Amino acid sequence: MQVIHDIATLRQALAAHPQRAFVPTMGNLHEGHLALVRQAAEAIRPRGGVVVVSLFVNRLQFAPHEDFDSYPRTLERDCELLRGAGCDVVFAPSEAELYPEPQGYKVQPPTELADILEGHFRPGFFTGVCTVVHKLFNLVQPSVAVFGKKDYQQLMVIRRMVAQMALPIEVLGGETRRNAQGLALSSRNGYLSEAEKEQALLLSRTLRMLIARWRSGERDLAAMEADAAQTLREAGWQPDYVVLRRQHDLGEAREGEALVALAAARLGTTRLIDNIEA
Ligand code: PAJ
Repeated sequence: MQVIHDIATLRQALAAHPQRAFVPTMGNLHEGHLALVRQAAEAIRPRGGVVVVSLFVNRLQFAPHEDFDSYPRTLERDCELLRGAGCDVVFAPSEAELYPEPQGYKVQPPTELADILEGHFRPGFFTGVCTVVHKLFNLVQPSVAVFGKKDYQQLMVIRRMVAQMALPIEVLGGETRRNAQGLALSSRNGYLSEAEKEQALLLSRTLRMLIARWRSGERDLAAMEADAAQTLREAGWQPDYVVLRRQHDLGEAREGEALVALAAARLGTTRLIDNIEA
């Protein structure tokens, strides 16, 4: 496995391998990331290709008050884990390498996809994500890219970007990995105390409850979503949203469509997101 920090070396290394599967990450890897790496390997090995993983904490997608500075950076441990998961090339650029000048050109996703839910509570977040992902796509030029369903809206926004920009990339979605109790794995779980990790289980439970009520025939979504938010609030959470939407574009849930329940909420100072497909 090659660990590369600069663009020139990356281009050289990839020249001999026209088929690439790519997994972009911000590092501090856990089993959820590694499952995506294994999925990438399965997709590209039959074509004789290689797996590329990027490790880069992207300043553009953090608001000034968010955790950019304290976001855990664990390069050596990440590389060890990636070696075991079948990665061939790690691209871990510095900020100066990826953004040698302020990134004035940006990829701005459409309002109806990117200014709802996560984008509503984190203005500019998806512009930051799309800009770095588009730039990384240009550098790696993958035929396959893998994103986790853990960040459901991100996966949808990237799929639409790839389609509208006619990028020759097949986007695969990876299932959300959870711990034995059901908590979705996340680099930000590291901010939680043991007691908070226990409490954090309520997030996925609340989503399952919302889906159960819909399945049992209830249709007053506003009331069901308000109850779900109240459940979290009573347990000491500060919910941003708890909603049931259609999977395709996260628009209004309608009868007969595939649905997904999504939530974002703060427990203490840690903001967690989760979702469950209905
Ligand atoms: P990061 O949060 O590091 O996540 C990298 C990838 O891992 C994303 O596709 C995310 O959905 C996936 N992932 C995270 N937790 C997961 C879990 N428990 N199960 C399955 N997949 C999981 O998402 C980002 O980085 C950034 O926004 C990025 C796309 C790299 C752009 O900067």
